[in-house]
Amino acid sequence: MIQDLINRRDIEKLIIAFYEKVKIDETIGYIFNDVVKVNWEKHLPVMFDFWENALFYTGTYSRDNMNIHRHLSYVTPLRKEHFEQWNKLFIQSVDENFRGPNAELAKQRAISISTVMQIKIIA
Ligand code: HEM
Repeated sequence: MIQDLINRRDIEKLIIAFYEKVKIDETIGYIFNDVVKVNWEKHLPVMFDFWENALFYTGTYSRDNMNIHRHLSYVTPLRKEHFEQWNKLFIQSVDENFRGPNAELAKQRAISISTVMQIKIIA
């Protein structure tokens, strides 16, 4: 049975599954693989911290995520279709692995942060 997301181990599972999709995605993969050449060993723990904080208020992340993406958008344009694809892959990753109130919360948080990011960056 698929269970809810309840701790950091679950977040790690979700984020790893999400980036496995991102890395091979035709629409947004190149941004991570070719433009930024992400160092996954460094980036993944940052993302675990970010999501642990976003869902469970652990205080593990306090950087200005919006500014980081604004800077990224100067390096390579971030468009509506990139965000739509990011959202789609994130929602798929949650639905394939978890079910319950925290799983719903994770999807909601992702969409609302993504929406704010688009308004701040694309507008
Ligand atoms: C079009 C959509 C997006 C693209 C292409 C994108 C791409 C990236 C890239 C290339 C990085 C840098 C990785 C590195 O440091 O090596 C990054 C960092 C990050 N992204 Fe995104 N991102 C997107 C949307 C989002 C959204 C919607 C969220 C949150 C819900 C998010 C959360 C983060 C966080 C927390 C970091 C780490 C920043 C740090 O180093 O503190 N991203 N993103």
